Amino acid sequence: MNQSTRAHWSGRLAFILAAAGSAIGLGNIWKFPYITGENGGGAFVLVYLACIAMVGLPILIAEMYIGQKAQKNTVTSFEVIHKKGTFWRVPGWLGLCSAFLILSFYSVVGGWIFDFEFRSLIGEFRGASDEAIEATLGGLFKNWPRQLFWHTVFMGLTVGIVVSGVKDGLERWNKILMPVLLGILGMLLVYSMFLPGFGNAITFLFSPDFSKLTSAGLLEAVGHSFFTLSLGMGTLITYGSYLNKNENLPKIAVAVAFMDTMIALVAGIVIFSVVYTYDMEPSAGPGLILVTLPKLFSKMTGGYFVSVTFFLLVSFAALTSAVSILETVVAYWDETRNVARKKGTIIVGIVIYLVGLLSVFSTNLLDGFRMGKGILAKDGLTFFDLFDKLTSSYFLPIGGLLIALFFGWVAGPAAIREATKSDSAILNGGLLWTARIVAPLAVFAVLYNLVIGF
Ligand code: TRP
Repeated sequence: MNQSTRAHWSGRLAFILAAAGSAIGLGNIWKFPYITGENGGGAFVLVYLACIAMVGLPILIAEMYIGQKAQKNTVTSFEVIHKKGTFWRVPGWLGLCSAFLILSFYSVVGGWIFDFEFRSLIGEFRGASDEAIEATLGGLFKNWPRQLFWHTVFMGLTVGIVVSGVKDGLERWNKILMPVLLGILGMLLVYSMFLPGFGNAITFLFSPDFSKLTSAGLLEAVGHSFFTLSLGMGTLITYGSYLNKNENLPKIAVAVAFMDTMIALVAGIVIFSVVYTYDMEPSAGPGLILVTLPKLFSKMTGGYFVSVTFFLLVSFAALTSAVSILETVVAYWDETRNVARKKGTIIVGIVIYLVGLLSVFSTNLLDGFRMGKGILAKDGLTFFDLFDKLTSSYFLPIGGLLIALFFGWVAGPAAIREATKSDSAILNGGLLWTARIVAPLAVFAVLYNLVIGF
């Protein structure tokens, strides 16, 4: 595809919604609450928020700028801005690896959400006992054919949307569904304020106790700030490349980061209000929302309707994110390997689908199988946890670190002025030095602290 025929967003709002659609997903509603629970709450949340503001935002602007400027995929963009064959293609390659691994388990979790939407629809949670709801999740984890079925549906839909292209596939859905998701989360927030566990939830999330934060937890907080904003992998380089050249990036980046953070925090408040109301374990792990929320829905008036709507919206939020991950790989293939878009999408989709089988089997057939005992985790990791840890805690932060360095040192002050479209010395200088020093140093220090130790 050459520049003049390259597809573009229909406008600024469409781009904001697409970037927000990519950012807002399972990371906010499924992952943020459960890793916050595992890492003891407040201190973890504080580090995560600090990273969004100080590391995430500048890298968000950097990625959007690189794509917008180069109008190319995540690997070629670095070559267009610097020079052919540049070392700086490395974050692009790393991003492509991350994309394969992340989408492979993301689709499996998306499948769990589909399954819970289906169960909501047939009324399984209506008046169900707490024990029955807990057994539902346990049953799904053991039932691999059922997980496989929904993983297939999820990947099938993701491939279908990406095949139809940027405008028709992505834009239409983002525009309608994001606002509706905000609405229903707001409603659940109001509802949770009347639960007896609300106060404890707020304390858990917002009063930091740093003795609960381990160095692995610290890295997880940094890594999650990348995951939740879709950073470190070139997704926003790719989306930025469909953006016209005259848009104001800092404003867009702040809007996207703000929405994303609000949604995660609201989801956290709702979920921990339920946890403390029904005396549950905050550190329940990846199944946390699939136990807490159905418990809530089974008891509230109008719970049937709320649960059908809620899981439907989370399904869409997950799909718009999954689509952005697949698009990152497909854009690369399409532009560099001359593989037709449709064919490329299907092939990549199938490979990711197959890698996903390892995650499907992680809670059943391969349950006893653990890797990296004593190195990656005390008892080792299943494939599912391995792919998640490897990408969120290592690949994305390292990719982000390199992108920040590229933006600050290689592209430099001229690029930063071009990105901000402003002459403000505070804005440009601040952005320059966070990209050059603050963001890379923060990521490096946290990695160093975990791997070698201060
Ligand atoms: N940010 C999305 C979420 O929170 C997931 C996602 C989409 C992603 N694109 C990404 C994560 C790129 C890392 C990199 O659910």
